[in-house]
Amino acid sequence: MKALITGITGQDGSYLAELLILQGYEVIGLKRRSSTDNTDRIKHINCPLFKVEEFEIADSGSVYSAVNRHRPDEIYNLAAQSHVKTSFDQPNYTVQVNTIGVINFLEAIRRFSPYTRFYQASTSEMFGKNVTIQEGTESGDSPISYQDEDTAFEPQSPYGAAKLASHHLVRIYREGFGLHCSCGILFNHESKRRGENFVTRKITKWIADLIGWEEDNSISPQSSRFIIGEENISLPADRMVADVKMTSTFPKLRLGNIDAYRDWGHARDYVRAMWLMLKQVRPDDYVIATGDTHSVRDFLREAFKIINIDNYEDYIVIDPEFYRPSEVEYLRGIPEKAKLQLGWEREVSFSQLVQEMVESDINGKKKEESS
Ligand code: NAP
Ligand code: GDD
Repeated sequence: MKALITGITGQDGSYLAELLILQGYEVIGLKRRSSTDNTDRIKHINCPLFKVEEFEIADSGSVYSAVNRHRPDEIYNLAAQSHVKTSFDQPNYTVQVNTIGVINFLEAIRRFSPYTRFYQASTSEMFGKNVTIQEGTESGDSPISYQDEDTAFEPQSPYGAAKLASHHLVRIYREGFGLHCSCGILFNHESKRRGENFVTRKITKWIADLIGWEEDNSISPQSSRFIIGEENISLPADRMVADVKMTSTFPKLRLGNIDAYRDWGHARDYVRAMWLMLKQVRPDDYVIATGDTHSVRDFLREAFKIINIDNYEDYIVIDPEFYRPSEVEYLRGIPEKAKLQLGWEREVSFSQLVQEMVESDINGKKKEESS
C-alpha cells in the first residue's frame, strides 16, 4: 500500500506517518518549501518506506503532478492554515490553503487517480456556536449539550468557514463522481508535538520555562534575570546594563478567553481514526472526539497541579490581544458512530494528556539547558 500525507511536518502528519509505516505502507510525506529546516517532528523516522517531497497545496499544477506521479492507494490531506485566530487576520490565504487546496486534490484524483481513497481533515470548528441539546430525563437531570454528525454547522471563523466549504466539496465529489472520500470531523487533539501557539502547548511550555527559570535562579546566584519587553533573559551579574530593568519575577502567562470549553483528546488516538475511515468499504464522515469537555481553566488547573501549584490564577494575565473577534464557546463531541462503525475509541484520558505534555516540556527544557 502506498499513502501520500500532506502536512507531514505538522503534529498529525508525524503521528500518522509512524502509524502507516508500522502497518507496512510506503509513505510519501508532502511538505511545502521552507527556507529553514522544519522537519523536527519527523526527523526520527529513518526508514526506507518513508520519503519526503516538496509541493504547494494552493498550486494546482503542483498537486496534480504529485497525484499523477504517485497514484497512491490513499491520500490524507492534513495540510492547512490551522490556527483559528490567524484566520481572522489572513482570511484570503486561509481559503487558498484550506479550500482551494482541497479542490486541487479532488480534481487531481478525479482526473488522474479515481481509485485513490481520500481523507479530508474536517474540524469541530465547523459547528461554531451550534450544539444539540438533549433534554434532561424526567428524574430531573440537567440537559446535555453536544455535537455529533447530525448537529448543524454554523462556523464562527474564516478557518471554520473554509473547512466547511471543503467538507461540502468532499461530499459533492463523493456523491457526484463516486470517489472514495471521507471527512473526519475531529475535535481538538493535542500532544507533546502540538504547535506552541495553541493554548494547551502554550500553557505547558510556559510551565516548563517557569520551572527552568526557578532552578536557574536558585542554583546560579552569579547570573541575574532581566525582562526586556516580553523577553526574559539571563545575564551574569557583572554584565548589568543601565537600560535593562532588573526583575525578580518571571513574566506571567498571557491568555485570552479561558472560559471556553474544548473536547481535548490525544493526537495519536485521532490519527488511528483517520486510517480506519479509509479502511471502510463505503466512504463517510465521522465525528472523532472523547465525549468529555473541559474549560481552558480546567486545563490550567490540571497542568499547574502537576508542578504542585494550586493557585494558577496568580500566574496568569488575561490579555485582550488573545481574544478572537468571534469565539466558539463550547465543544463536546459524541463519537458514537465512530465507535459502532470503525470500532474506534480513545485510549488517552484528559489527565494523561496534560501530564504527558507538561512532563515532556519540562524534560525538553532540562535537556536544552544542560546542552
Ligand atoms: P499543524 O500542526 O498546524 O500542521 C499543519 C501542516 O500543514 C504543517 O505541516 C504545515 O506546514 C502544512 N501547511 C500549511 N500551509 C501549507 C501550504 N500552503 N502548503 C503545504 N502545506 C502547508 O496541524 P495539525 O494539528 O497537525 O492538524 C492537521 C490537520 O487537521 C489540519 O488540516 C487541521 O486544520 C486539522 N484539524 C486539527 C485539529 C487539532 O486539534 N489538531 C482538529 C481538527 C482538525 P509547515 O510546517 O510548513 O507550516
Ligand atoms: N491559541 C490560544 N492562545 N488560544 C487561547 C488563548 C491563547 O493565548 N487563550 C485562550 N484561548 C482559547 C481560545 O480562544 C479557544 O477558545 C481555546 O483557547 C482553544 O484555542 P486553540 O488552542 O487555539 O484551539 P482552537 O480550538 O481555536 O482550534 C484548534 O482546534 C480546532 C478543532 O476544534 C486547532 O487545532 C484547529 O486547527 C482545529 O480545527
